[in-house]
Amino acid sequence: MDEKYTRPKQKWLDSVESTIKRFPERKNTFTTSSHIEVERIYDSRDLDYEKKLGYPGEYPYTRGIQPTMYRSRFWTMRQYAGFGSAQETNKRFRYLLEQGQTGLSVAFDLPTQIGYDSDDPMSEGEVGKVGVAIDSLHDMEKLFDQIPLDEVSTSMTINAPASVLLCMYIAVGEKQGVPIEKLTGTIQNDILKEYIARGTYIYPPKASMRLITDIFAYCQQNVPKFNTISISGYHIREAGSTAVQEAAFTIANGMAYVDAAIESGLEVDDFAPRLAFFFNAHNNFFEEVAKFRAARRVWAKIMKEHYKAKNPKSWKLRFHTQTGGSTLTAQQPDNNIVRVTLQALASVMGGTQSLHTNSRDEALSLPTEDSARIALRTQQIIANESGVADTIDPLGGSYFVEELTDQMEEEVNKYLDRIKEIGGAVQAVEEGYMQREIQHNAYETQKRIENEEEIIVGLNKYTLDEEVNPDLLKVDEALEREQINFIQQIRNDRNENAVNQSLEALRSAAKTDEQNLIPFILESVKAYATIGEICNVLRDEFGEYIG
Ligand code: 3HC
Repeated sequence: MDEKYTRPKQKWLDSVESTIKRFPERKNTFTTSSHIEVERIYDSRDLDYEKKLGYPGEYPYTRGIQPTMYRSRFWTMRQYAGFGSAQETNKRFRYLLEQGQTGLSVAFDLPTQIGYDSDDPMSEGEVGKVGVAIDSLHDMEKLFDQIPLDEVSTSMTINAPASVLLCMYIAVGEKQGVPIEKLTGTIQNDILKEYIARGTYIYPPKASMRLITDIFAYCQQNVPKFNTISISGYHIREAGSTAVQEAAFTIANGMAYVDAAIESGLEVDDFAPRLAFFFNAHNNFFEEVAKFRAARRVWAKIMKEHYKAKNPKSWKLRFHTQTGGSTLTAQQPDNNIVRVTLQALASVMGGTQSLHTNSRDEALSLPTEDSARIALRTQQIIANESGVADTIDPLGGSYFVEELTDQMEEEVNKYLDRIKEIGGAVQAVEEGYMQREIQHNAYETQKRIENEEEIIVGLNKYTLDEEVNPDLLKVDEALEREQINFIQQIRNDRNENAVNQSLEALRSAAKTDEQNLIPFILESVKAYATIGEICNVLRDEFGEYIG
């Protein structure tokens, strides 16, 4: 008998050997998406509560950031939505809120995300397509019509022009009579992942980091309940990374933002409590749970030990999760309801603060109302019927989950050390290090799917000869024309002098690093300057990044 095993285990191992002779295992080795080997069984490990786990709401937050987690408050059910005109999207927002959604999340169209007006030649064919078209404060007022901004928190997926949309939101709040300090929500404002994976950047890194840290400073003074950045791993994973790379590259980007904010003169505890994160949830259930738990612990240690943050709110990794868009199949779209359910369950078991569940038809188009409702109901069933929200970190203490959490923490830290050797995340992005790592994994994954090593039900196994075409959302082609007419009407009706004066003031402020640009952008927004006009002033002063 091998002395390292107890008698019962040795007896079990002997029985396994004889069984395998008759029934070989399905694979020689089983691994997670991060190529971590999955053992046949995990058992008997010591749980170092004080150093490793901590209790919920206690450093290092492995088991969750709140002492009572979902026993006091479910995660925010925050469906990403937006298409067509501000009126169309306002209708969808109000529908989702009526159906029980508890937070808003705005999807903007590509022209808005890249700082072009709807009538810019660059916008042709994209107006209102992948999100709502927002050209000026007028559109933003329509977007939140009959939605009181002191009663709901709003996430805005906007990065390069984040400062403009933040100012539009502030201005709408003002028009609704909501004091600026009462506004709650999140601006994504994470340009590094745009260079790495998503692509909606405008300015070079230095200017982009300045705009980001200007938002940190302005919100700390004026909009204290607003989360100033949503450091995103979602798109890194969608680009093909492993779960470990998703967590590691996101945390590395987070460190770059903290460094930039400190270099701009801010104290770490002044801005860190309002940093937020955004992760993906793919199909490997236990790997995703372990990823969230490991990421919380890694970030807590970095903030407390490396940056010497004193405020526990600076140590807490608060995150939103979106289920994995790239795991959805166009084939047999109803199967996606099952995938999303498992991914949502992993997010909840991993302690997410906010969650978006994808709709079954999103591999084919933006979701119909019915599909979006089923996606929301998925969360509501998990919350109200499954019981998993009734105790904290229910998988904590599982031999497998704790071992996997430890291994993922170790792998994440190895990547962080590599990125540190390169000179940090900005340098690593400019050298293409993260991009290469992601592309390599994406290629390997695709090969595994094509040779059926990795089974995707309905895609490379259990397929149908005839696919049924579901009803899909169509964005009215006439919208682009209507939006162009509307923006031209805005330009006719506004006070052109006020617009020009505000844009010139912004231009002179942008020529040096001395002044925070947010107040100047806010003045331009209130004068009904358009997003394109504002972003073009900054294009003149900062130039454009050619990735
Ligand atoms: N005990 C005590 N207090 C609790 C609690 C508990 N159990 N649970 C919650 N609370 C408190 C919180 O502390 C908070 O109060 P505070 O602001 O004063 O601290 C309040 O209740 C709200 O709770 P959360 O902050 O946890 O929840 P939110 O939903 O408001 O915020 C977040 C969550 C992750 C911090 C925030 O950043 C967020 O909402 N992010 C969403 C980002 C998002 O939706 N992104 C979508 C991107 S779509 C995209 O990019 C993909 C596309 O490209 C395809």
